Amino acid sequence: MSHFHSIARVPGDPILGLIDAYRADGNPAKLDLGVGVYKDAQGLTPIPCAVKLAEQRLVEGETTKSYIGGHGDALFASLLTQLVLGADSPLLTERAAATQTPGGTGALRLAADFIARCLPSRGIWLSDPTWPIHESIFAAAGLRVGHYPYVGTDNQLQVEAMLAALSHVPKGDVVLLHACCHNPTGFDLSADDWRRVLEVVKARELLPLIDFAYQGFGDGLEQDAFAVRLFAAELPELLITSSCSKNFGLYRERTGALIVCAETATKLQDVRSQLAFIARNLWSTPPAHGAAVVASILADNELKRLWMDEVEAMRQRIASLRAGLVEALQPHGLSERFAHITQQRGMFSYTGLSPTQVQRLREDFSVYMVGSGRANMAGLDANRLDQLASAIARVCH
Ligand code: LMR
Repeated sequence: MSHFHSIARVPGDPILGLIDAYRADGNPAKLDLGVGVYKDAQGLTPIPCAVKLAEQRLVEGETTKSYIGGHGDALFASLLTQLVLGADSPLLTERAAATQTPGGTGALRLAADFIARCLPSRGIWLSDPTWPIHESIFAAAGLRVGHYPYVGTDNQLQVEAMLAALSHVPKGDVVLLHACCHNPTGFDLSADDWRRVLEVVKARELLPLIDFAYQGFGDGLEQDAFAVRLFAAELPELLITSSCSKNFGLYRERTGALIVCAETATKLQDVRSQLAFIARNLWSTPPAHGAAVVASILADNELKRLWMDEVEAMRQRIASLRAGLVEALQPHGLSERFAHITQQRGMFSYTGLSPTQVQRLREDFSVYMVGSGRANMAGLDANRLDQLASAIARVCH
């Protein structure tokens, strides 16, 4: 008898699968605009200097590899909570705390299992479209998953439709919101839009889960925290998933956190006891290295300054690549059609290219992007924008 006989194959991951496909492509002119990693002018995903310096100190100073606790590195957790909520947030004293997780994805899974276990009848509402892994994480935790409109087939933000849909969500359900640099579209809400979403959240008594994976890549480290801080100030309860993958360049070190804001110090501790229990069953204790790096940087004024400058340089480079691509599309008569690329924020752009056009870009020009038409702007090469623009023009005309 074969135990595995009836097991069918599932399709590969829509995003990570592109890494292998790109590697296997022998075309020297290939372009990787798939998975969300930042690349510098040399086409490398660099380790920030602040991270390198912190790592050197850690190698010298580290005295043990013993476990860190269930909530992770306490200094990391407290400094990251400050970075997210703001150093002057009144919640910091006793109403908010972070549980360290393996990356932002681990934080999402922890949140999903927390909702399933502690708020069992609640559904979760995701933007349409959203990061495909949101769909599978919440489904895997057994949650009822619903969608609210976000970007339509015309590739425009649908704020009115979003608000209308949210105002019909069952009371008490969870709504997942992207704090900034919406993945996959790159379209973000304005400050006024956020205030309107907050009103609906209050009226429907929804629990927001804010995914904050790209702090610093939109308009700046502080500016990108606008929605998170607005919601934290106005609501008694909130969940935030924070990732250090992109802004600290720590991708493979799997460094993130689930931040909980609760109404009272006691309730915060009750929730945290549940999180520690769930985390113990998922990964026991989180990996130490990335969190130790982040803590060393945020605790040291000089390293923090260096890191902030490095984040800002990455942010500006992405913005200039966006502008450069639209400029390169101009001779092809396409700059207006793709003008949205400069309005979008963060790593990703929903280009508006169809799945067929994406496939042609890959097959005929070795340009790799996600099938939905999402392109990683942070993966562009400033010297090859003309090449990319010509390829786009060929599949568009
Ligand atoms: C992406 O969407 O490309 C990134 O968030 C990386 C990932 O884990 O998918």
